[in-house]
Amino acid sequence: MTLKTIENIDVSGKVVLLRCDLNIPISEDGEILDISRIERIMPTIKYLSSRGAKIGLLSHFGRPNGKYDENLSLGFISECLAETLQAQEIVVIPDCIGKVAKQVLSDLADGGIALLENVRFHIGEEKNNVKFSKSLSEIADIYVNDAFSVSHRKHASIYGVTKFLPSYAGLALQLEIEMLEKVLKNAEPPTMGIIGGSKVSTKINLINNLMKQMKYIAIGGGMANTFLAADGVNIGASFYEKNMLEDAKDIIKRSKELGCELILPTDVVVADRIEQGIDSHNIKITEISKNNMILDLGIETVGNISNAIANSKTLLWNGPLGVFEVPPFDEATSSCALTVAMLTRAGGLISVAGGGDTVSALNNAGAAGGFSYVSVAGGAFLEWIEGKSLPGITVLNK
Ligand code: 3PG
Repeated sequence: MTLKTIENIDVSGKVVLLRCDLNIPISEDGEILDISRIERIMPTIKYLSSRGAKIGLLSHFGRPNGKYDENLSLGFISECLAETLQAQEIVVIPDCIGKVAKQVLSDLADGGIALLENVRFHIGEEKNNVKFSKSLSEIADIYVNDAFSVSHRKHASIYGVTKFLPSYAGLALQLEIEMLEKVLKNAEPPTMGIIGGSKVSTKINLINNLMKQMKYIAIGGGMANTFLAADGVNIGASFYEKNMLEDAKDIIKRSKELGCELILPTDVVVADRIEQGIDSHNIKITEISKNNMILDLGIETVGNISNAIANSKTLLWNGPLGVFEVPPFDEATSSCALTVAMLTRAGGLISVAGGGDTVSALNNAGAAGGFSYVSVAGGAFLEWIEGKSLPGITVLNK
């Protein structure tokens, strides 16, 4: 994929509308819990600012459904943005369209930065309304998308606005596509997928797509229970999706036809309930009894996954392999993640992870820093690895 990028465009003295994803996690008291998404846009902001652009940061926050909601106002992020940028002042603009926004942005000094109010306060945003898209375009000269994590949404600030302004991909978005292509389209074989999480139903398209191109797919998390049940294993009191048994059977059959080795658990860690530090046992899948709940992969399975990791040159990871939030059921995730990190650091493996709980599971293992790339996207990451084309990316294609 060849994107239109910001390298070599003249931005000096021009207003750049920079779509970013400031939809960051906060606590009930409004405390910012993770600034990864803010950190990711720093290279683009610094690049544009150092070349004299006047930058209007545009984002959504939460899902206000097209109405003003003071709890979802973006102003509170400006301080954190300024700190991360090291002492740059960030002007806060109370709307993202209209005369005031246009005036404040054009009055910025070259290199100056302003933060526009939550774009989802306008009903036209999620509807990709043409009039609203045009209003967004009227406050700027150039549009840059640095929000891969929102690019699966056909919204005005992602899609519609590009019809009215010269539009480019920011540096973070460019890197994301490059890394995702390295593990999918341009992957060096042998390739491996590690797919975890609780539900097969949310990962079915993704597994079907990966099976066509990967040598190994390891399945963990609650979804592995559905595969075991489909294979006729007694899974005791474990969570599984009854309505997905046929799909799981089909995946097992198709993986054989396609020559993709599906690595399913041969042993598991069980307990009677989910509780920190509770008595747990590592048993063979043939030994699971009525009251047992499968809460993590066993040592033998981790060994099988680790061997496949060591045989691979490219690896994609999505989802935790056990109930990682409740120790000791984080062990399989941590052990496999540390193996990936070690082999990546040694230079023999390209590894990319992302989607949902994946980042916190890898952080919990202390392994995220060892991966070649960790995406901060959720739904967009999943849609991309399902093989879908994302509207916000398609419009930036050369
Ligand atoms: C995300 O957090 O995944 C993105 O910001 C997209 O948010 P949305 O699911 O509300 O569109």
